[in-house]
Amino acid sequence: MKNGALKTCKFKLKNLFTCVVFSTVAMLSCNNTSNDTANNPKENNLSPRDTGAIYTPPDTSTIPHDAFGDMVRYGRELVVNTAHYIGPNGTEGKYLGNKMNCINCHLDAGTRPFGYSYFSTHARYPQYRGRENKILTLGERVNNCIERPHSGTPMPLDSKEMVAIVSYIKWVGSNVPVGQHVKGDESLEIEYPNRAADPEKGAVIFAEHCSSCHGKNGEGTWNLDSSTYTYPPLWGKYAYQKGSSPSRVVKLARFIKANMPDKKATWQKPFLTDEQALDVAAFINDDRIHARPQKKDKTHPDYPNPATKAIDYDMPPYVDTFSALQHKFGPFKPIVDYHKANKQPVVW
Ligand code: HEC
Ligand code: HEC
Repeated sequence: MKNGALKTCKFKLKNLFTCVVFSTVAMLSCNNTSNDTANNPKENNLSPRDTGAIYTPPDTSTIPHDAFGDMVRYGRELVVNTAHYIGPNGTEGKYLGNKMNCINCHLDAGTRPFGYSYFSTHARYPQYRGRENKILTLGERVNNCIERPHSGTPMPLDSKEMVAIVSYIKWVGSNVPVGQHVKGDESLEIEYPNRAADPEKGAVIFAEHCSSCHGKNGEGTWNLDSSTYTYPPLWGKYAYQKGSSPSRVVKLARFIKANMPDKKATWQKPFLTDEQALDVAAFINDDRIHARPQKKDKTHPDYPNPATKAIDYDMPPYVDTFSALQHKFGPFKPIVDYHKANKQPVVW
């Protein structure tokens, strides 16, 4: 980009964002956030995500045979067999409240494009987070996942296990420039229909395409000695919490579209249509029919600045006039339009 150029771009991504590029500061000012961050100019550098090929993480055979490499290998081991090491009966500490593993969501240990990958994670932290309304380090962000999807207690930031996980995440993103996104670090795009996502339609899809592995009651399937899951739970007391990223309908639908049913769907060739992915996500995340754990520590309210909430975040207050139900299930377009018209951030 040349200095001084001023260009307006319409992202094909979601067709939702009008972005203004001020190349002098090489900054992309835009409301596009693929994770639940608020608008952070540093977050929004013009990046290879929008132009480049899918990022390829280095091969595990290239992990160096030195002290750093040993930490990377241990970190990968922790991401794959999380419950074994730091689960409720963990050999290295009892931090998780359930027996899921990071790899259940961060597919292929964070190396699968559009599978909640860790591609650019290390390159983008420390980062502003709307939920806490402050800058979090990568270790603190890891603890968010330990506290929410895993219903656990934070690990000490200087523990060997935390340093190992952060080292592994750094290694996955070895070739990603600081501050940048790369293609495949986000979730797959989805078109929003003009209707709300429908849990009843989702129930039918779930019975047909999901329950064989995840169980009729979303409880998942244990492995032989019940030390972890062969197929992880989707709701119930051992699943991810209310208010966590996957409990958001759009966030979950975008993951499902690229990756589920397992072995049938790929990001290149999704199995469900966008509407089906939204409907089944609505069914899974419908708190009127499915229970899931709640945040334990209520002393710190989430999103002290409501403008930083994702559109599909289902707990008020909001900076708009739409109901919590519409924020959760849609239709989403009117909310997005309202935010744009009123110069409010459009966060996903
Ligand atoms: C139930 C699903 C689930 C589990 C289990 C889970 N996470 Fe996450 N994690 C998510 C979701 C969803 C996000 C948000 C991804 C996004 O915004 O695209 C996330 C985000 C993250 C991020 C920030 C990524 C970024 O680029 O901003 C880190 C780091 C992370 N998780 C680490 C972990 C670790 C380590 C574990 C295991 C201890 C773990 N997670 C377990 C679902 C999960
Ligand atoms: C053939 C078995 C199988 C089927 C069918 C299947 N899944 Fe999964 N699912 C898995 C496995 C295995 C994982 C964990 C991936 C890993 O650990 O590598 C997973 C992970 C998930 C996760 C993230 C982890 C969690 O528990 O929160 C979600 C959400 C999910 N599946 C939703 C679905 C939906 C929705 C369908 C139906 C459209 C579906 N799955 C069909 C096997 C399956």
